[in-house]
Amino acid sequence: MSGDEGSMIIDDEDDIDDKHKIAKDTKKDVSIALPTTSAKAATAAPSHDKDDSNVPWIEKYRPHTFDEIVGNDETIARLAIFSQNGNMPNLILCGPPGVGKTTTILCLARILLGDAFRDAVLELNASSDRGIDVVRNKIKLFAQQKTSLPPGRHKIIILDEADSMTDGAQQALRRTMELYSQTTRFALACNTSEKIIPPIQSRCAVIRFGKLSEAQILAKINSVCVAENINYSDEGLAAIVFTSQGDMRQALNNLQATYHGFGTITPDNVFKVCDEPSPLAVQQMLENCRDGLIEDAYKTLSDLWKMGYSPEDIISNIFRVCKNLELREHAKLYFLKEIGITHMRIVEGSGTFLQMTGLIARLCAIGDKFKKP
Ligand SMILES: Nc1ncnc2c1ncn2[C@@H]1O[C@H](COP(=O)(O)OP(=O)(O)OP(=O)(O)O)[C@@H](O)[C@H]1O
Ligand SMILES: [Mg+2]
Repeated sequence: MSGDEGSMIIDDEDDIDDKHKIAKDTKKDVSIALPTTSAKAATAAPSHDKDDSNVPWIEKYRPHTFDEIVGNDETIARLAIFSQNGNMPNLILCGPPGVGKTTTILCLARILLGDAFRDAVLELNASSDRGIDVVRNKIKLFAQQKTSLPPGRHKIIILDEADSMTDGAQQALRRTMELYSQTTRFALACNTSEKIIPPIQSRCAVIRFGKLSEAQILAKINSVCVAENINYSDEGLAAIVFTSQGDMRQALNNLQATYHGFGTITPDNVFKVCDEPSPLAVQQMLENCRDGLIEDAYKTLSDLWKMGYSPEDIISNIFRVCKNLELREHAKLYFLKEIGITHMRIVEGSGTFLQMTGLIARLCAIGDKFKKP
C-alpha cells in the first residue's frame, strides 16, 4: 500500500463513518431515487449528526453507545464488562451482515479510549489493502508507536471484514499479536469465523452475533419513522421487516429508499423498491396449493417467472411466506420439506421452471391429502 494513501490512524471520528459509507456498504445498499414532491420533508432532529440531509440513515442512526445497540443482549453485556474493567482480550466478532459488529467494536473502542480514540485506534477494512505487507509495516508500526492512553488501556487495531484478509496476512499477524500484547489489542470482525485461521482464533475470544428479531427491527424502524416524521402504514413497516431478513442495515436502507422514492411507506411501495416477489402473490399461490387449485397456483408461479425473478428469490420468498401460512401443522411440515428439497436442487444448479412447477404440483398433492373433509 503506498504511503501517500494517508495514515490509517483515524484523524476524526467522522473519518470512520466516511470510510464505512464509501467502502463498506456500497455492495449492499439499495440505490436511492430522488425525493418526489409528495415526500414529506424530514423535520425531526437527528440523533447524532450535524448536517444530515444527505446522510444515509444507516450512518445517521448508527449507535454510538451500547445502550443504543439493538439485540444480541448477552453478547453486548459481555463486551460491556470488558469496557468496565478495561482489559479487553483480542476479539473476533462474527455473525451475519448488518447486525452491528462494526458498530459494537467502534462503541467499545470509544468507551475504552475516550479522547484517545483518535490516536489509539487503527481501523483497516476490506477497502484497505490488507496483504502481508500491511501487517508487516503498517500494523507493526502502529503497534510500536507511543501514544498516551488512559491507565490500563491498550491501543486497538480494528480489522473489519477480516474474512477477506489473505491467509498470508493472517499468518503474519500471529506473531505480531503476541509481540505487542502489552500495548495493543486486536478486534476482528467477520461474517464467518471459519475463514479466520485457527491460530488466530485461538488467540482471540470469539463473540458471536445472531440475526435480529422481527420485533427488534420493527421497533428500530418505527423510531426512525417517528424521528424523520415519515408517513407510514403498519403493513408498510411489516413489509420492510419482511424484506430485511434480520439485517438492520437492509431494513434502514429499504426504509430510506422507499421514503425517497415514494414518500410513504406502504407494502406496495416497499416491494417495488426492494424488487422482491410480492409476498402477497406468493401467499395466494401457497393458499391455492393448500386448496389443491393447481391451475391458479401455476398461473401465479408463471407470472412471477415472467417478471424475471430468479429461482432463489422465489424459493426463499416461498419459504418465508410458508412459515406464517395458515395451514394444518402436518401439512405445513410436508410443505416445508418439499420447499427445502427444491431449494437444495436450485442451489445445486437445477433452478429451472420445471423444478418450480414440480414443487407446486407436489404442494397441491399435499394440500389435497390434508384437505378438511
Ligand atoms: N444491533 C443494531 N442496533 C442498531 N442499529 C444497527 C444494529 N445493527 C446494525 N445497525 C445499523 O446498521 C448499520 C450497519 O451496521 P454494522 O456496520 O455494525 O453491521 P455489521 O454487522 O458490521 O455488518 P457487516 O458484516 O456487513 O460488516 C449501522 O450503521 C446501524 O445503523
Ligand atoms: Mg461490519
